[in-house]
Amino acid sequence: MIMAQIIGGIGTTHVPAIGKAIAEKKHDDPYWKPFFKGFDFVHYWLARTKPDVAVVFYNDHGLNFFLDKLPTFAIGAANEYGSEDEGWGIPVSRPVPGDAALSWHLINALVADEFDLTMCQEMLIDHAVTIPMALIWPGPSWPVRIVPIEINTVQHPLPTLARCFKLGRAIGRALESYQHDLRVVVVGTGGLSHQLDGARAGFINKPFDELCLDKIVGEPEALTRYSIHEWVEQSGSQGVEFLNWMAMRGAMTGRVSELNRNYHIPISNTAAATVVYDNQKAAERKAA
Ligand code: DHB
Ligand code: FE
Repeated sequence: MIMAQIIGGIGTTHVPAIGKAIAEKKHDDPYWKPFFKGFDFVHYWLARTKPDVAVVFYNDHGLNFFLDKLPTFAIGAANEYGSEDEGWGIPVSRPVPGDAALSWHLINALVADEFDLTMCQEMLIDHAVTIPMALIWPGPSWPVRIVPIEINTVQHPLPTLARCFKLGRAIGRALESYQHDLRVVVVGTGGLSHQLDGARAGFINKPFDELCLDKIVGEPEALTRYSIHEWVEQSGSQGVEFLNWMAMRGAMTGRVSELNRNYHIPISNTAAATVVYDNQKAAERKAA
């Protein structure tokens, strides 16, 4: 039977300053080069694996949702997602194509699976989607359609790491019950350690980031033992964007291996990690 296939995952930071660096073609600038180099493998891997769709786990920073109405989990169900000027002084992204039919399949499957997502038939995507898109697919047109899935990492109480991992699991199951010949890549944006405000502004924790990058591949459950407050302590108040990475990892249902890792400090205020994961199903392993 023809089914959608989850080929792997990508994790990347989403710092707005990257948009300015891209616009000003600073790829070979000494500050930016070690960061942009991390995407060479991403581009090589995508040229070989050619996904049709990207499911993007991200957090909205006040463009589509604000503190007055902030869903813990929301999903786009549109055939196109626009963006707007968020005030960072970077070019506004061209719209990104969606896949409303796949979104509705995921919504139906998730609600049946007891994950009740906020459904958005209109949704603006902010820098947490548009910057990763520009990094991952730098060409003049988008070769993929997206399903954006928002996770609240902004207003406490935040969902737990375990909950976001389970959300990913549910998305993985739902994708694999979609009877269409689709190749899907799952993306988690943001992180790793960073803090933008308060007494610890500029905080970065390299040993903790390295532990996260090690554990998320083969032992993601170990990371679910941290409470959100412990996570803030270890990773900074915006380091909780790792929730997006936990959902991305959860969506990979096969044997996961790290194909590439780039870790660079700092990019703006963040520890910037770029990773590519392979997701191999048992049946493919046998055939190989
Ligand atoms: C920065 C980091 C973020 O996660 C974000 O959403 C905005 C800015 C920064 O480090 O500049
Ligand atoms: Fe952010």
